[in-house]
Amino acid sequence: MTFILKSVVPWGRSFDEYVAMFNLSADDLKRSIIGCGDGPAGFNARMHEQGHYVVSCDPLYMYSSNQIEQAILAARDEVMQQVKNNMQNFVWKTIRTPDELEQVRMSAMQEFCKDYKAGLFQGRYIPATLPALPFRNRHFDLCLCSHLLFLYSSLGLTFHLQSIHEMARVSEEVRIFPVVDTNGQRAEYFDELMDRVRASGLVVRIEPTRYDFLKNGHEMLRITHARQK
Ligand SMILES: C[S@@+](CC[C@H](N)C(=O)[O-])C[C@H]1O[C@@H](n2cnc3c(N)ncnc32)[C@H](O)[C@@H]1O
Repeated sequence: MTFILKSVVPWGRSFDEYVAMFNLSADDLKRSIIGCGDGPAGFNARMHEQGHYVVSCDPLYMYSSNQIEQAILAARDEVMQQVKNNMQNFVWKTIRTPDELEQVRMSAMQEFCKDYKAGLFQGRYIPATLPALPFRNRHFDLCLCSHLLFLYSSLGLTFHLQSIHEMARVSEEVRIFPVVDTNGQRAEYFDELMDRVRASGLVVRIEPTRYDFLKNGHEMLRITHARQK
């Protein structure tokens, strides 16, 4: 069976998962960070609570908290059904069962929901849609993009290329996780995409992380500007 989600769903990971997925060090957490496609993840809420600075961008933030809570409940049913139908696509080690997965995710999303209104007011949640971000060049130190690019490979080569260039425009460094789709496969255009990103002068590295849940999906892409080499 193949893991298929009908659309890019609002489904959020926790602070601890972000730290593991992106190999975030204590120094990284002190940098100014933009999260692209952060959706209902708990990362921004926890970072804010710890006194750090994250701006999350997602088209989801056009909606009210009630609408987002409804969308999360609908996504929960779809995602959990797909997970149960495709148990072999995941490494059941840190997260041991689908029930534990649901609990971890729902608790991260509750953290987001509690923080959402205040975060919108403070400009920490900004409705914005890749491949266009409303920030000046190099406004941020670090851009994180989790479970959007590559996971939804059907978004296509052009969208990926434009999004990577836009994230690199607004940030000194970009990290993207994972680099495979929901079935643990690299997009057929992956090599061409990497060639084109490198040809534009950016430096691209694929690095292992200690986050190992989606099979073949424990690596992240780190993109920097050539002068940082
Ligand atoms: C699967 S969720 C991942 C959420 C979070 N990054 C995480 O890993 O927990 C994907 C998110 O991407 C957002 N999204 C979809 N298309 C987008 C776009 N073009 N630009 C920015 N975000 C987008 C969706 O609204 C959704 O919140």
